[in-house]
Amino acid sequence: MSNKLPESYRWVETEDGSKTLYSPLFDENCHSTAGAIAETIYTYLKPNKVLERIQEYGTLSILEVGWGTGLGFHTTLDAVKSLSSATIDYLALEIDPILIENSQDMRFSVTQLTSEIFVHQAKVENINLRILQGDARRSLPFLKSIEPQLQFDVIYQDAFSPKKNPTLWTVEWFKDISKCVHKHTTLSTYSAAKRMQKALLEAGFGVSIFPGHGMKSKATLAQWDTVTSPELFDKLKIIESFKD
Ligand SMILES: C[S@@+](CC[C@H](N)C(=O)[O-])C[C@H]1O[C@@H](n2cnc3c(N)ncnc32)[C@H](O)[C@@H]1O
Repeated sequence: MSNKLPESYRWVETEDGSKTLYSPLFDENCHSTAGAIAETIYTYLKPNKVLERIQEYGTLSILEVGWGTGLGFHTTLDAVKSLSSATIDYLALEIDPILIENSQDMRFSVTQLTSEIFVHQAKVENINLRILQGDARRSLPFLKSIEPQLQFDVIYQDAFSPKKNPTLWTVEWFKDISKCVHKHTTLSTYSAAKRMQKALLEAGFGVSIFPGHGMKSKATLAQWDTVTSPELFDKLKIIESFKD
C-alpha cells in the first residue's frame, strides 16, 4: 500500500509482524493486534475453505464487507495465486474513499455508477477485483439491481465492531447480503455478538460458532442452507434478554 494517508490514520504493528490501520472515522483498528495476517487467514480463509473450494471448483466469488487496508484481498491473493488456472471474482465494499485512494498503486479503472457509488476495477494475477465505493447498504443493492446474477460463494463479514459500526450487523444488512447467496454460501466473521448472530438467523442463515483468534474466545460461521444447532437456536431466540 502506498502512503497517502492523513496523519489521523495510524499504522499499528501487530504481533505477527504485519500492520493494521487505525481509522479515525470509526475510532478502531482494522484488525486484531494479535496479528493482522494471522487473523485474516484464521477468520476468513480457513473457515470458508477458500483454497479447498478453488481447488475443487476452479472458480470462486468472494464478497468482503470492508476493504480497509486491502489486507483481506492481498492475503487471499497470496493463498491462491499459484492456482493460475482458477478464476476468482473479489468484490470489496468500502465507504471511506481515503482508504481506496491509498490503494491507487493498484491501477484501477474507475466507473461512476451513481452520484455516490463508484467501482474501482483491476485484474490482479488470477483475481478480478472490484472495490465498490459508497455505503454498502446502498451500493450492494444497487449493484445487484444492475447485475441480477451477482452471487457470492464466500463472504468475509469484516466491518468494524458492532458497537462502532452497527449498521453493518443488522437483519436488514444480512437480508441484503442474502439476496446474493446460494445454498452453499458461507459467511464468517470475527464477531460472536449474540445480537448479530440473531440477525443472521433472522435473515435466513444457519449459524455456528468456532474459537476466535487471539484474545477472542468465539467467532461466527454462517451458511445459507444449514440448520443452527438447537442449543444456539434457543439462546438466540431469547436474545431480548441478552447483554452482549
Ligand atoms: C475492519 S475494517 C476492514 C478491514 C479489511 N477487511 C482489511 O483487511 O484491511 C472495516 C471497513 O469497513 C468500512 N465500512 C464501515 N462502514 C461501511 C459502510 N457502511 N459501507 C462500506 N464500508 C464500510 C470501513 O471504512 C473499514 O474500512
